[in-house]
Amino acid sequence: MTAPFGVYLHIPFCSRRCDYCAFATWSDRHHLHDEYLDALSAEIAREVERGLPVASSVFVGGGTPSLVDPVRLANIVSSIPVTAGAEITIECNPESVTDTHIASYVGAGVDRLSFGVQSLSAEVLVSLGRDHNPDTVTEAVALARAGGIERLNLDLIYGGAGESIADWQHTIEQVIALDPDHVSAYALTVEAGTPLADDPSRHPEDDDQADKYLLADSLLTSAGFINYEISNWSKPEQECAHNLLYWRQGNYRGFGCAAHSHQDGRRWWNVRTPDRYIDLITSNGTVEASAEELDSSRQRIEGLQLSLRTREGVPRSSLSDADINLLDPLIVVTEDIITLTTEGRLLANEVAVRLR
Ligand SMILES: C[S@@+](CC[C@H](N)C(=O)[O-])C[C@H]1O[C@@H](n2cnc3c(N)ncnc32)[C@H](O)[C@@H]1O
Ligand code: SF4
Repeated sequence: MTAPFGVYLHIPFCSRRCDYCAFATWSDRHHLHDEYLDALSAEIAREVERGLPVASSVFVGGGTPSLVDPVRLANIVSSIPVTAGAEITIECNPESVTDTHIASYVGAGVDRLSFGVQSLSAEVLVSLGRDHNPDTVTEAVALARAGGIERLNLDLIYGGAGESIADWQHTIEQVIALDPDHVSAYALTVEAGTPLADDPSRHPEDDDQADKYLLADSLLTSAGFINYEISNWSKPEQECAHNLLYWRQGNYRGFGCAAHSHQDGRRWWNVRTPDRYIDLITSNGTVEASAEELDSSRQRIEGLQLSLRTREGVPRSSLSDADINLLDPLIVVTEDIITLTTEGRLLANEVAVRLR
């Protein structure tokens, strides 16, 4: 079996910027959609010509991929060489999905959608500054299923200002009722340079986020989900192949502005803005902004740090006996593997710094 290979496409446009978000996305450059998609096509065509490996997973993320012309995006996805049975995911905002989107995506082999749901409490969505409401999510999920997409991830955020434990419990229960096969739940993170960072009154509290994490884990686990990475739960055998590839240090190629790539310990990333990216592709220049080479010891430690976060765990020899004793409540130790306990997942960094 050949090693998995991933392709990531970045779509850097949003209808407006959420005030907690630090991703490479713009809400004032919609005039660039067409030129950007032209550039993305050209970059992919160039790399296919140069022998881009056949992809076992494709992930189209953003930004808001569902904001650009779905027919054009589908054509671009179709131009990527993929293996039979490849996982192809497009990230969508619930409010911008129509049956045309779904039909175009399915025509391009897309078999998985990831919806940015964040919450199913109407008040919390308002306070997060989102453009959708709980009904929009139900409708988007129904559209996806009616169009033949069975694999669905729902992204959630917990710990936003004004979100009670009851709100969060309601969100998880409603998510379970929608019956997705995958849920990603992220603790709201205060990212430097965002409006949220400038407003301490809305910053999340550690204890509240820990309580919400434990509640999510217990409700999702009871509903048949398995936690396979700290922030990710799936039904059996419905893990996201593309995420697994990242966490297993696989090779992947990112296309589009700000997209990252990795090949055998060399990491590089493209220029950040869509304007610059379009200019460089149009003039046949290189879009690589910078790169780094990981030596074998750094690769090994990073590999352990990533693996520790997953249910695959790390070899027992990755921690000293003294650390194993010290970290007792945070880890489960078998003859050859160490994994995190539920409590350990909340304090993963305490364990990760001791890996050797
Ligand atoms: C980059 S977004 C793209 C998806 C889509 N545009 C959306 O927001 O619904 C991917 C996911 O990152 C998460 N995210 C973004 N900013 C975050 C933050 N500051 N803290 C925690 N999660 C965040 C959200 O759950 C979001 O669905
Ligand atoms: S919609 Fe998603 S990518 Fe866009 S600003 Fe909000 S969180 Fe960021």
